Amino acid sequence: MSSSSSNVVIDRLLPDNWAEGQMRSDMLQALTSTPKRLSPKWLYDDRGSELFDQITRLPEYYLTEAERSLLVKQSPHIVAEAAKHGISTVVELGSGTSDKTTTLLDAFWEADQVKTFVPLDVSEQTLLDAANSLSERYQGLEVHAVVGDFTQHLAKLPAGPGRMIVFLGSTIGNFFVEERRALLGAMADTLQPGELILLGADLYKQVERIIHAYSDSAGLTEAFTKNVLDVLNREFDADFSKDAFDFVPFWDPQENRIDVRLRAQMPHRVSVRDLNLEVDFGEGEELQIEVSTKFKPEQLAAELDSTGFELVTTWLADGPAEASHTPPQPDFGLFLARRR
Ligand code: SAH
Ligand code: TRP
Repeated sequence: MSSSSSNVVIDRLLPDNWAEGQMRSDMLQALTSTPKRLSPKWLYDDRGSELFDQITRLPEYYLTEAERSLLVKQSPHIVAEAAKHGISTVVELGSGTSDKTTTLLDAFWEADQVKTFVPLDVSEQTLLDAANSLSERYQGLEVHAVVGDFTQHLAKLPAGPGRMIVFLGSTIGNFFVEERRALLGAMADTLQPGELILLGADLYKQVERIIHAYSDSAGLTEAFTKNVLDVLNREFDADFSKDAFDFVPFWDPQENRIDVRLRAQMPHRVSVRDLNLEVDFGEGEELQIEVSTKFKPEQLAAELDSTGFELVTTWLADGPAEASHTPPQPDFGLFLARRR
């Protein structure tokens, strides 16, 4: 279904009601498998998106400002590369509020290098608000918003011409290695040779600093995580109690990622009435909510290479200066690559 107002076009590739369609089978599988593991996309209902937005303003959550300052500095260079590659369509996956993206779009707009912006997100209201405000900010830009799932709907993206896929916020890090491979591969399949991808990824660094970003003292990350229980209660008439679970973020040194879980304080049973499901939690049993991988630049470069991309440029943001005996580690990276 498509509809339009002014120069905003909206494609809806998801059912109006979240609990219909894929969320049903997803949640059923998540709650009946061992271990129990949810898909990150269901964290972002209206409330979840709002909580995430608040997280991005926390001092501990260094990622957003690190990425923003990289974009401020490098956008003219990104636009120059885009011009060489004939880019006129910017596609943003998991766009959310597209707040940082305006930094990039400003540079594209000034250089008269963008005709169409295609934000895609599962979170409909957040997406539509962003699409409307962008179409006001850039008078004449065609904004083609897609309410969709980037793990499923890449083939339905507008065909271009000349697309650059932008994937920011280190969302690429929220997938397990094999899923990440599939996602990058699907992006490569969608793009034509010479089209571009711009990845924003958080980098491996001092573990303390990483852990702090995911266990903020204001409790926002805990609220964001536990909000998914409200989603289940609302969408499937379940009776999860947020107080019955501890918020457990930890660093996994094997996988170089933060792993965020909810741990049952005591054995209990949860009814998920609309799924005809009784879910038993043992004492200390965990519900896996989300991971956030921290990359070494050469690792992500190799993954891009093996999924069909040729690295064009990497831009790294310096982290805070540390004690003089350790060299400063880069905080965050932007990776620009072209489809081979
Ligand atoms: N790009 C923004 C938001 C990052 S949060 C930033 O950098 O700040 C991740 C965003 O991806 C959320 O808006 C969420 O709704 C969206 N998202 C998560 N999984 C998705 C999926 N499978 N398909 C589409 N959007 C998804
Ligand atoms: N892409 C964000 C990240 O990896 C998503 C995120 C923010 C997140 N807060 C989180 C993921 C807390 C897991 C837990 O940082």
